[in-house]
Order: sequence, then C-alpha cells, then structure tokens
Amino acid sequence: MARADDLTLDVRGLETRFLTPKGPISAIRDVSIQVRPGEIVGLVGESGSGKSVTGLSIMGLIDAPGEVVDGEVLLNGEDLRQISARRRRQLRGDRIAMVFQDPMMTLNPVLRIRTQMVEAIRAHDPKVGAKEALRRCRDALAQVGIPAPEERLDAYPHQFSGGMRQRVAIATAMLNGPDLIIADEPTTALDVTIQAQILAEVQTLCRERGTALIWITHDLSVVAGLAERLYVMYGGGIVEEGPVDPVLDHPLHPYTDGLIRSVPWHNEPGRPLNQIPGMIPALDRMPRGCRFHPRCDRADEACRQPVALREGPDNRRVRCLYPLGKV
Ligand SMILES: Nc1ncnc2c1ncn2[C@@H]1O[C@H](COP(=O)(O)OP(=O)(O)O)[C@@H](O)[C@H]1O
Ligand SMILES: [Mg+2]
Repeated sequence: MARADDLTLDVRGLETRFLTPKGPISAIRDVSIQVRPGEIVGLVGESGSGKSVTGLSIMGLIDAPGEVVDGEVLLNGEDLRQISARRRRQLRGDRIAMVFQDPMMTLNPVLRIRTQMVEAIRAHDPKVGAKEALRRCRDALAQVGIPAPEERLDAYPHQFSGGMRQRVAIATAMLNGPDLIIADEPTTALDVTIQAQILAEVQTLCRERGTALIWITHDLSVVAGLAERLYVMYGGGIVEEGPVDPVLDHPLHPYTDGLIRSVPWHNEPGRPLNQIPGMIPALDRMPRGCRFHPRCDRADEACRQPVALREGPDNRRVRCLYPLGKV
C-alpha cells in the first residue's frame, strides 16, 4: 500500500449510520479507499450497495440524523472529520468537488452559466479579476467539449441538453483545480455515445491536471475503459479491490464474478445473461459475517463469521474465505 503522504485521499474504516424506525443502522461499514494524485478509481456495485453514502460521507454531506460514526477521511493528510465546518466548506468546491447524477443538484436554474461559474471562482479566490475569471470559464467549458463556449456562457441551464448540462457541472467542479473529484453516476442518465465522450474528456482532464477521481457507477462496462483501479461494494462494504484488468479478467470475490457475468459484453451473443440469485438484503436484514453468503454457492458455515480483508497478489484485496483465485 502506498504511504499515506503520497495519497490524495486516504479513507480508513469509514462507517455511516442512519436513524431508521428500527433504530440506528449502519449503511456502510469499514470502508477504506485510497486514491493517488491523478488516479482514476472506480467504485462499483449494485444499486443500494452504499456507493452514494460513501461519496457523501467523504464529502461531509451526510445530513443529520444520519452521521459518520467512525473512520478517517484524510485529504492530503488533513482529516476532514476533525476540521471545522468553515474549513470543510472552504475545501469543498476548492480542493474537493462532487458531481451528481442530476446536474441540477449543483447548477442554479435561475442563473446564467456565466454568473454561477464566475461565482464559483470568486468564492475561492476573490482577487481574480472579471476578465481572468471569464477566460477560465471559457477554457473550462471548451475542455469538456462544449462548442462555442463564449456564447453558451450566457445561457441558462435549461437551455442545454442533458449531456451538455452534465458537462457544465463537470466544468464547474473542475474550475478551481481540485485535488479530488467524486463523480456519482454522472453519466448514467445519458445515452451511451454521450457517456463515452464525457468519460474520455474527464479522463484526459484528470490525467493532465493530476486530479484524482472516484467514479461511482453500477455499470461495470463504464469503468472498464476508464479506471485504473476498482473497488467493488456489496451490502455497505468493500468486498474486492485491485487494478482494473486483473479484477475484471480474474475476479477473486464470487460477488464480483457474478456482477461481471451479468454484464452483456462478457457473454456471447444470444446467450442469456447470468443473474446473481436473490437480492441485496435490506439494511436491517443484513446477514452476519460475509453479507453475500446467502447468495453465494461457495459459502458454508464459516462465512457466517466476520471475514477479514485478505491481501492477494498485485495489490489486490478480497473479503472472502473461498476466493476464486489464490490469495
Ligand atoms: N438518508 C438515508 N436514510 C436512511 N437510509 C439511507 C439514507 N441514504 C441511504 N440510505 C440507505 O443506505 C443504503 C445505501 O444507499 P446508497 O449509498 O444510496 O446506495 P447506492 O448509491 O449504491 O445505490 C441503502 O439501503 C439506502 O436505502
Ligand atoms: Mg447511488
């Protein structure tokens, strides 16, 4: 594992709890994620596995009575859980930014793009002059593939198509050159061709600027061509992590294997897709021990006890007693 001071983000043992009618329940538990400068990391898993809660917890955006109850979130060595609310707001949008599935979570519908982008720059550096701010906005829009950025700056968000609107949200997130962007299914609602274009643009930008990126998605085919490393989530925990190609070619966790087999591109045409039997359990019905064991054909009694994350070859880790390869 890389040393902590080489990392942009070092999350250790994160746990977030929500208050439910049945009492407080942890939605994510023991989540650890490391991202190096300029690295693109995919966080994947079925809907309900805890991906968004992980992103929001890292950003400090969990609303009460929900609460991050354990763990460290080190951004360039600074623990975001220990700093003041003021400092956290300062870092957000400046050193760390989030892009949501719905760009209107960050764009203001009643303001021209120009106004909101200039505000985003000035909020973090009031000394930037009007001309310089506008130049930065234009460049940012051009870099995410928006044609005629000069004219588009005067438009309102609703005057853009879905894909263009998401590009504006990404450009805005990148305006202040953050060290880390967390993108939560930003292209899921878009057409596949547009998704691919946006992905390619974001990848280039992150490489050029050294921005670390966590790309959250339920769609493995999206991260396959984009990320360097993968974290696979199930039932609120990381079950497998490692470099993309080894994980996709030879998954160690039976859940990762099932997820890969349920994606069309891994099947021959005409063959039915494999479905993982059963469903992701509700938070208040999470099984003890390995949370995947009731759906797993390799599981036995031993899987009902807590399972530790085990080190595999090539910087891989897996939380399974009976992995599909040698660890
Ligand atoms: N504010 C909340 N209050 C209670 N439960 C929540 C809240 N937000 C998320 N959850 C629960 O946490 C689990 C993980 O949700 P989420 O992170 O949104 O999944 P994903 O993004 O992987 O689809 C789900 O069971 C969800 O119902
Ligand atoms: Mg989500």
